[in-house]
Amino acid sequence: MSRPLRKVVFPVAGLGTRFLPATKVIAKEMLPVLDRPLIQYAVDEAVEAGADTLVFVTNRYKHAIADYFDKAYELETKLAEAGKVDLLEIVRSVLPGHVRCVFVTQPEALGLGHAVLCARAVVGDEPFGVILPDDLIRARGAGVMRQMAEMAATHGSGVVAVEEVPADQTHRYGIVAVDPVGGRAGRIRHLVEKPKPAAAPSRLAIVGRYLLPPRIFDLLEATRPGLGGEIQLTDALESLAQEQELLAYRFAGERFDCGNKLGLVRATLHLAMDDPQLAAAVREFVAAHG
Ligand code: G1P
Repeated sequence: MSRPLRKVVFPVAGLGTRFLPATKVIAKEMLPVLDRPLIQYAVDEAVEAGADTLVFVTNRYKHAIADYFDKAYELETKLAEAGKVDLLEIVRSVLPGHVRCVFVTQPEALGLGHAVLCARAVVGDEPFGVILPDDLIRARGAGVMRQMAEMAATHGSGVVAVEEVPADQTHRYGIVAVDPVGGRAGRIRHLVEKPKPAAAPSRLAIVGRYLLPPRIFDLLEATRPGLGGEIQLTDALESLAQEQELLAYRFAGERFDCGNKLGLVRATLHLAMDDPQLAAAVREFVAAHG
């Protein structure tokens, strides 16, 4: 895709039932991984990739995400008056000044494809990214969205991030069949949403990162409910892949599925072991309890 990435969509309307009772009052995306909410990692990745417009597709009960990215005047004033420069910097770094947030409501939970379609009026006629914040991905170099933006700029096509999963896990993901095109990329021939192992065309699973042309919106409009009666993004991608080149990209980085408890614990431990002030004590604790 020739135009640079400016807009990234975050579907965040889910109820987060795996984290009840905490999610009775806390949006799943606000659960902390170490000291920052899950959504912050996704936003940082989008901003690093060049995004200046973040589109949150939310439900009418979730106000915490908007509050979090809003400027906290009172808090900032107090910290400034108290000379707490470090804390002030932490609060301000939540969102760089040039980035704006737009909130769109998904009136009914009709599926991921429907959530993305809700962002159409804001995204308009340009390529855009989609990040599912549940998938927290730590990369040593450039973040995954940035890696994908570079790939899209080179190839001029949409890109979907993929990772190989064990055969008994295919039912949890969109699975792609690809023709290799060199390096980490493959051209997508076919996609299936959450197939049983016997029906899976490969073990390459879609993870929560997409870089898509605006054409996907027309295709989503035409997509009928699929698996689970939901409008599936994977089904619209299948139509897209039949029309134009769509790449599967094996990203460089480590993914943590923070949509479940074990993934959230793993991500927290990983970050803690990366933190010079915590690493030694955490390793000691893990060793003692192993
Ligand atoms: C969604 C997509 C699926 C993809 C997954 C990645 O599923 O429908 O194709 O593999 O995200 O996290 P969900 O996890 O929302 O059920």
